[in-house]
Amino acid sequence: MKILVINGVNLHMLGKRKAEHYGTMTLAQLEDMVRDHASKQGVDTEFFQSNCEGALVDKITGNDSDAIIINAGAYTHYSYAIADALECGGKPVIEVHLSDVENREGFRKISVLTPVCAARFFGKKEKSYFEAVDWLVKNV
Ligand code: DQA
Repeated sequence: MKILVINGVNLHMLGKRKAEHYGTMTLAQLEDMVRDHASKQGVDTEFFQSNCEGALVDKITGNDSDAIIINAGAYTHYSYAIADALECGGKPVIEVHLSDVENREGFRKISVLTPVCAARFFGKKEKSYFEAVDWLVKNV
């Protein structure tokens, strides 16, 4: 199985964002941890990050993965374009967040992506991504 791990807007700033919510790791370190976790289970990974909604849509609709893990950043809360792209891709999609989005500002409780995702993991920093990998290994 090959999993495409997509990080959206502002995730390139990991390591410089609020550590209490996002931890101290950089995006490269996060990707290394997820790659290691997946490869131990025989799963291949590809990583993609963009701040641009259109670039995210292009990647979601044009890739050769079997499943997608996505942390769309703030796009999570309002991008119907990304939701539509995930839905028409026809692959299992898992939504992840580093922070506990259910216990922060009100706007973070809204996700327009959840309805097109098979599962959602949040609030455990990099472990949210590990749980998403584990869910796909078990269910796909
Ligand atoms: C985030 C939560 C979002 O609300 C925020 O805009 C982000 C990161 C998270 O991983 O916790 O950029 O998706």
